[in-house]
Amino acid sequence: MASNKKLLVLPGDGIGPEVMRQVYRVVDWFDRRRIVSFDLAEDLVGGAAYDAHGTPLADGTLQAAMAADAVLFGAVGGPKWDSLPFSAKPERGLLRLRKELGLFANLRPAMVFEPLIGASTLRPEVIRDLDLMIVRELTGGVYFGEPRGVETLPDGTRRGINTQVYTTPEIVRVGRVAFELARKRRGRVTSVEKSNVMESGLLWREEMQALRDREYRDVELSHMYADNCAMQLVRNPKQFDVIVTDNLFGDLLSDCAAMLTGSLGMLPSASLGAADAGGGRKALYEPVHGSAPDIAGKDMANPLACVLSFAMMLRYSFDLGEEAALVERAVVNTLKGGVRTSDIMQTGTARVSTTVMGDTLLRELDKLA
Ligand code: IPM
Ligand code: MG
Repeated sequence: MASNKKLLVLPGDGIGPEVMRQVYRVVDWFDRRRIVSFDLAEDLVGGAAYDAHGTPLADGTLQAAMAADAVLFGAVGGPKWDSLPFSAKPERGLLRLRKELGLFANLRPAMVFEPLIGASTLRPEVIRDLDLMIVRELTGGVYFGEPRGVETLPDGTRRGINTQVYTTPEIVRVGRVAFELARKRRGRVTSVEKSNVMESGLLWREEMQALRDREYRDVELSHMYADNCAMQLVRNPKQFDVIVTDNLFGDLLSDCAAMLTGSLGMLPSASLGAADAGGGRKALYEPVHGSAPDIAGKDMANPLACVLSFAMMLRYSFDLGEEAALVERAVVNTLKGGVRTSDIMQTGTARVSTTVMGDTLLRELDKLA
């Protein structure tokens, strides 16, 4: 039996808590089978934390995240908190976690599960066997650049300002993550920016190329403008292996890539920091989908993205590749069995609740064990 691992769970808002409930069942399953156990703690984040503490991320929660081996995150936000000032918005809780934990590399895989091929809006031949990875820079760029704000001009009109900014070290460290991943995959990286319009994009392109020429000559690197990339993702997504891009383009392109697979409700993500001396690294795992306030509390949400985020955690934080694969197989078998939450509904399948999806998943885990 593996030793205890410190895991901080932050279910957050909206559908976060209900999808996380299904992950707890999977955690419990591993514990009961004595395969792997976790030292679990749970805390508030986002709107839930704001309601309790007046801040979307309390200092104590941040400290607990710092001390944990991994953080499992649900979702944040909702109309209830829309009118709060920027510094108090639920999203700030997530952004602060990313920044303070130094989670600069965001891995967003987009893979098509064969049983869901009909749930995509694209033709089956365009997406069958799709398996691409977006590596999004997560702690820099326009999300954090200074100056920022809204100011009133002498004539009484206002000006909103954000700053897109990248340094060589910021580009190189996320580039390394992309090249390393490509080595374990199909050996190709596409670097995405707008170097035709932005100086920071030109720097991005030059630094990526220099890094590849210096350290990763075995990896094939190409460059693409972000607008073209959005188009190519829909036109012919299978041309991509690893895409590496900045914070804002990565936000947009990963939503686009996710939808190729049929539903945002299926896709996990990992946010990783730098490796420390002991080989560990800070890490946060979260589904790509948001808090979906329209269906929150109705037992309708798809828990699989959150479950697959847990699987990514097993693989990347705890080197438990076999256990991760077990969870992933159980997810595929659950889908093969024909149960669907409403986001991935197809004709000939049965619409089920979040809970029933979880029940089915556990039965599939039992069958595989
Ligand atoms: C994401 C989300 C976040 C982002 C929000 C919730 C701050 O859209 O993780 O993609 O913009 O990064
Ligand atoms: Mg997003």
